[in-house]
Amino acid sequence: TASRAAGHGGFAFEPIGIATDHEIHVPAGYAHKVLVRWGDALWSEADGAYSPETGVSVDMSDKVFGENTDGMELFEVDGREVIAVNSEYVNPKINLPAASEGVPQTADEVTLLKNLQGVTVMEVTRGDAGYEVVKDSPLNRRITHETEMTLEGPLAGHDLVKTNADPEGRTVKGTMNNCGSGRTLWGTYLTCEENFNGYFGATGEMPEGEGYSRYGIGGEGRYAYETFDPRYDISQEPNEPHRHGFVTEIDPADPASTPIKRTALGRIKHENAAMTQAADGRVVVYMGDDERGEFLYKYVSNGTWEEGQDGGDLLNDGTLYVAKFNDDMTGEWLALTPETTGMALPEILAFTRMAASAAGGTTMDRPEWVAVNPVKPEAYVALTNNSRRGEGATNAGGDDMSTNAANPRETNNFGQIARWTPADGNHAAEAFTWDLYVMAGNPAVYDNAYAGSENVTEGNMFNSPDGMIFSSDGMLWIQTDGDDDNEGDFAGMGNNQMLVGNPETGEIARFMTVPNGAEVTGLCFSLDKSVAFVGVQHPGGAWPDGEGAPRSSIVAVWREDGATIG
Ligand code: FEO
Ligand code: CA
Ligand code: CA
Ligand code: CA
Repeated sequence: TASRAAGHGGFAFEPIGIATDHEIHVPAGYAHKVLVRWGDALWSEADGAYSPETGVSVDMSDKVFGENTDGMELFEVDGREVIAVNSEYVNPKINLPAASEGVPQTADEVTLLKNLQGVTVMEVTRGDAGYEVVKDSPLNRRITHETEMTLEGPLAGHDLVKTNADPEGRTVKGTMNNCGSGRTLWGTYLTCEENFNGYFGATGEMPEGEGYSRYGIGGEGRYAYETFDPRYDISQEPNEPHRHGFVTEIDPADPASTPIKRTALGRIKHENAAMTQAADGRVVVYMGDDERGEFLYKYVSNGTWEEGQDGGDLLNDGTLYVAKFNDDMTGEWLALTPETTGMALPEILAFTRMAASAAGGTTMDRPEWVAVNPVKPEAYVALTNNSRRGEGATNAGGDDMSTNAANPRETNNFGQIARWTPADGNHAAEAFTWDLYVMAGNPAVYDNAYAGSENVTEGNMFNSPDGMIFSSDGMLWIQTDGDDDNEGDFAGMGNNQMLVGNPETGEIARFMTVPNGAEVTGLCFSLDKSVAFVGVQHPGGAWPDGEGAPRSSIVAVWREDGATIG
């Protein structure tokens, strides 16, 4: 299809140059428009809820599109197109212009911030002016830091997840810091809880335990939630943080459904969840933990799935593995079990990082998205960067963070993308072989390892790969979240960007650039694959309105001749 047709170096589009402005750029012959912005109404009652001076009012804050869009997936529901999309975090200074330093001063201000994060489910439709959100659709839904959900899997009901409000340890409020996404074979949405630690603070004495320090839990919360809501105060509710940091499943077809936190997939700072199927029908989910020197994981279900079935217990009953990348380009998935970790199963799922350290996983350069090639048995992980990689360095658990073959650069400010092929082409296999698809770098500044691999040229330079999504034709779309000052080591890279990589030839071409200040987050395609929806998170300047505050938005991109691009 179009993304790999012959033409410009094997790509269907003419690669574009860098940009340093506050606009969106796409190749010649392509067009774009904003689909939805932070503060746009999802229901008519919220029309006009957004003000360029004051943002969104608290009473309308759960009826509008949230801030800082991230991972997203598009679903077909009874012939309608529905996008489920994350709002990862909020920028307090933009949302609370009256509050000093952007720290909430009242319970209402905390509620406002809670409501503008989480997940949005919204119907979209193609009108005369291109795609738009269907306001008042019965499928529209907001899921916030206060939405009720259930805990399932082996950690549910355990003492580690019991709180004053939930003595059974099975009912939780909120999904937090929803970063990347995934989709199940049975048509549900997976939202991934990443930096959940930042929402908790201690107003009194901190409980003891490595389970707090390993995840960066303690001190003051990022948004002062703990000042106004005891649930977020670790000194009062020491187990509440144990109830976050999961992959959470949402049914986009049923706005009344209760989201489910899948504890069997482990508790880490989840980036995304890439589901595929093993040769024997078992379900496999690949997952990265985005922190310096943390690990790459996979989950393999015990049961099998067939077309037409729902998920049942497939995400409650299975085995979690951590990846070990050997220097000889082989690798192994190490099962996290009581035997390999010295921990009971519920503890493995609550403190997965500690279990992976005990089992001997390979410390990675901040694993962001994983993407599974739909036309070939292989998968890719974006290792975004790791400024502390080097001799003598360790991760938060004390594991060695000196260089290794998969993470070969000290002070790695550019990042790389690793890929692996499972033994026998079977994603459930415990053995794999691997290589580096690309080492990002700057051949204009360096002529050593910091120049990057051969497929990096002065024409396609980038740093800090983050989002990765395959299109159906087997092309790898790469989104960046890096340094965009275009100076020094980063000269010639410009604003953050989306590139397309050809897995067969290794070639990489720049497709899109976003406004200075922004990162590119999330990608999904219309059902007919003619429109790409692309997330723009934390833009600078006054994009896209041209005045007032910058507004994180989803942008629709299409080819003017209507050809498929996804
Ligand atoms: Fe939210 Fe690791 O990116
Ligand atoms: Ca990310
Ligand atoms: Ca990132
Ligand atoms: Ca981000």
